[in-house]
Amino acid sequence: RELELFVVGSLNMDLTVQVTRLPGRGETVAGAAVVRAAGGKGANQAVAAARLGARVRLVGQVGDDALGRELLAAVAREGVDVSGVRQAPADTGVAMIVVEDGGENMITIARGANGLVRPTDLDLTGADALLLQLEIPVDACLSAARQARAHGVPVILNAAPYAHGLDELLPLVDLLIVNEGEAAALCGGTDTAALIALGPRAAVVTLGERGARGQDAAGACQVPSFPVPAVDAVGAGDTFCAQLALSYAAGLPLVQAVRRACAAGALATTGHGAQTAMPTGDQVERLFARAS
Ligand code: RIB
Ligand code: NA
Repeated sequence: RELELFVVGSLNMDLTVQVTRLPGRGETVAGAAVVRAAGGKGANQAVAAARLGARVRLVGQVGDDALGRELLAAVAREGVDVSGVRQAPADTGVAMIVVEDGGENMITIARGANGLVRPTDLDLTGADALLLQLEIPVDACLSAARQARAHGVPVILNAAPYAHGLDELLPLVDLLIVNEGEAAALCGGTDTAALIALGPRAAVVTLGERGARGQDAAGACQVPSFPVPAVDAVGAGDTFCAQLALSYAAGLPLVQAVRRACAAGALATTGHGAQTAMPTGDQVERLFARAS
């Protein structure tokens, strides 16, 4: 049976400019043309999971405007069920992205409709996991997590971007996924044991080119990254989260789930844009087989 992933999260229109190097404070750097493409951590993780072969439902909010309709159509084309994405009387979320040659990036988001997502009743029938991020209000995440737990559906939280006020949410989380900056903001370091002390049953910290480390009741693990020619890391974290969520929901031991997630995330850095570069399940398997 195909896994079914339920995502509650954000949708953004990404406006991206490629530059030879990122600007410093107060500096202007000239770049290439603006590229407009579907993004937002919720939509990205939903699309990544769909490419990887899962059935995916996305709940969220876009504006009742042209960008919102464009976004909805793009995500629906990937096979994601967007019937739970509302068109609200607000602006569609926008992300302003600058990507440097080699892949480093800077992102600013205007949350728009994402910031107005309210707690809603979710039909979690058939869901194998709930996947959340923090580009929508924490109370909407909290409500979704409570409903998932009541249904026995595992809760996976990618605490990105960092937000405070997670004290009630973290104890409801089965698997927490953060990068080093988010880990430091949450627990003052990148130690998975310190993250687990905040409430989640398992924690994974992504380390970029150094791979990822994880910990659950079975113990701690460290996984190296897969060396690939990176051009754009936007969407790599989201692809990592989607693959990790699916492997975790399938019952794979954490270390194996993290290895697959590293492979999927690495592949996502080899192409420009967030959703455009996301790999299929076969591509992940091939990189995986080649490396082991
Ligand atoms: O994680 C990448 C995403 O972060 C981009 O697509 C952008 O929309 C921001 O939300
Ligand atoms: Na990318």
